[in-house]
Amino acid sequence: MPSTKIAGIGFYVPEKVVTNFDLMRHMDTTDEWIQERSGIVERRYVERHEETTASIGAKAARIAIERAGITKEEVDFIVFATLSPDYFFPGCGVLMQRELGITHTEIGALDIRNQCSGFVYGLTVADQFVRSGMYKNVLLVGAEVHSMGLDFTTRGRNVSVLFGDGAGAVVLQPTDEPGQGILTSKLHSDGTHAEQLALICPGAHGGYHAKKMGMDVDFGFDENLEFGELFVTQKMLDDAMTYPVMDGQLVFKTAVTKFPEVIREVLDDQGLSVADIDLFIPHQANLRISQFVQRKLGLPDGKVWNNIQRYGNTTAATIPIALCEAWEAGKVKKGDLVCIAAFGSGFTWAASLIRW
Ligand code: ACO
Repeated sequence: MPSTKIAGIGFYVPEKVVTNFDLMRHMDTTDEWIQERSGIVERRYVERHEETTASIGAKAARIAIERAGITKEEVDFIVFATLSPDYFFPGCGVLMQRELGITHTEIGALDIRNQCSGFVYGLTVADQFVRSGMYKNVLLVGAEVHSMGLDFTTRGRNVSVLFGDGAGAVVLQPTDEPGQGILTSKLHSDGTHAEQLALICPGAHGGYHAKKMGMDVDFGFDENLEFGELFVTQKMLDDAMTYPVMDGQLVFKTAVTKFPEVIREVLDDQGLSVADIDLFIPHQANLRISQFVQRKLGLPDGKVWNNIQRYGNTTAATIPIALCEAWEAGKVKKGDLVCIAAFGSGFTWAASLIRW
């Protein structure tokens, strides 16, 4: 059975740079607070109404397709990972297909809803399709437009300062070269803390989970309706429930435990050790989390690629953007062992080992 290699990689970040000082004009925050807690100096935001998650995904995809040496018509499957889709439905996969001008229908498009772990989950799904021989050129994209959905008042500052917009893409192909490609992946999930890092409204929950979890929340649903319900109520809008919520300290504590666990799991699976890793690309959630994990593993600075300082947390896009930057900088060479790992909302977490 062949394994799966990354045949082409690309990324796109919007031109507009938004610094911590820019955010200070909208909310009560400081450059010092943001840098100290997260490492972030600036992030990119899309040109409002000119770019979307699907359209920036397409920009990254075009580069990956060209570098893979194929035409867009040769892509036979799309996997699109995002938590900030253009529409509730249909997903960004088909919107990006249209944006790329792929008009033939001998292709499938799948959307992945795994937030920060979306790229690693997507890579693992795509890997199965390639290994099995079902598809030969899978286009995997992680893209986010957070700037359209954040609370830019002081009320939302604990979340808003962390996120940025961007997209990364890879083309995956089969390879018969012994030892090359994706060696292993491990995926995990635990729904216990689903609401601790979430965007709950709008949605079709009707207050069900909140009631079951003993949360005292009034979503403003109309009790007089005979059936049906609105995804969004006036109360949700009035009370700013349509923005993401995050228990930052719980996320931090859990992330720094799960990252090293899953990384050791993929290494053990292959009989490898931390010393064998040539490059570690952590999901760019927060520089402090990445540094903590790096120290715990005992990896030197030269083997870790961080770029959250410049882009903020671009969720499903952080790993392909960072991997592409590292590759462009000559930090990933043929034969290198690359480890990618992510943790995020769900909670879900995952890691893969790739022999370049
Ligand atoms: N600017 C200034 N002050 C702020 C800001 C801000 N942007 N945000 C919160 N504060 C204030 C709070 O209101 C609070 O004030 P108070 O003491 O007067 O009540 C104070 O700072 C401390 O707030 P905490 O939430 O306790 O701050 P903490 O030290 O936990 O840092 C942070 C917050 C950076 C979010 C941290 O918890 C963290 O890094 N968590 C990990 C979460 C993360 O990385 N999420 C990324 C997305 S999820 C993912 O990708 C895995």
